[in-house]
Amino acid sequence: MDEIRDKSIWITGASSGIGRALVCRLAARNNFIVISSRSRGKLLELQKIAPQRIRVLDCDVGDSEDMARAARELAGLTDQLDLVIAGAGVCEYDDDLQLDTASYRRVFDVNFFGAVNTLRCALPLLAGSRAPQFAAVGSLSSVVGFPRAEAYGASKAALAYFLDAVRADTSQVALQVAHIRPGFIDTPLTESNDFAMPFLMSPEQAAERIERGLARRHHTIDFPRRLSWPLRLLAFFRPLWFRLCAPRLTRIHSLRNR
Ligand SMILES: NC(=O)c1ccc[n+]([C@@H]2O[C@H](COP(=O)([O-])OP(=O)(O)OC[C@H]3O[C@@H](n4cnc5c(N)ncnc54)[C@H](OP(=O)(O)O)[C@@H]3O)[C@@H](O)[C@H]2O)c1
Repeated sequence: MDEIRDKSIWITGASSGIGRALVCRLAARNNFIVISSRSRGKLLELQKIAPQRIRVLDCDVGDSEDMARAARELAGLTDQLDLVIAGAGVCEYDDDLQLDTASYRRVFDVNFFGAVNTLRCALPLLAGSRAPQFAAVGSLSSVVGFPRAEAYGASKAALAYFLDAVRADTSQVALQVAHIRPGFIDTPLTESNDFAMPFLMSPEQAAERIERGLARRHHTIDFPRRLSWPLRLLAFFRPLWFRLCAPRLTRIHSLRNR
């Protein structure tokens, strides 16, 4: 019931962190998995855990031309996908409200346009499945506005809207759309964070929650609850977030000497 077994799956962001842990978990359940990221070497290394059931497709999810090439190669690897997990992501913080649009574009290219490109490549193959699922990894950071997360949080909030709209657009067809929102996970993405990360989880714990949520066909997969419930409550009572929490978290104390 809580396992994903014997499916045909495509996972982006597979070379590291949460994506890698998902591949390890799902490969042990007789799933056929296409793994993607930019680092072909890391993917080939990961393929060794189940060479018969894992195929490597290196691509840059933020590059539409490269994704057109990836779509052609994907169609050569499998004629059907039951589950796609758009997990590729990057994080850049906006220190001191620099508002550097180049940084914002880099983050949106992967976190938002990467998911759009992934769905475009996958849709023809998802159409071949009887119970297709498209899941994307957002973040609990999009629930409320976090200081320094203007670019990252906004890209994940845009992703949230995109997923809702796709879900609405496909409400008469079989496609199930899932929004995965992790809290803090101990991966290369967070290793340089210089602030306390409450309820930090391992990638393996995250992969377990994600598999369970997807197997139960949940639309929203939030974890850990100890973080998601307080954040959802604060999002409901937004003035509390801005009055009580944000002033403790921001590092900006003057607009002149930022
Ligand atoms: N760690 C957390 O606390 C946390 C919390 C909430 C949400 N998330 C989300 O979870 C997802 C996975 O993050 P993670 O923590 O596992 O980070 P990670 O270990 O840094 O993994 C990121 C993955 O994305 C891939 N990637 C990055 N840019 C790419 C691109 N342009 N094209 C293709 N692949 C690309 C990376 O591979 P290459 O570098 O080889 O391309 C890597 O496989 C992300 O969407 C992240 O935003 C993470």
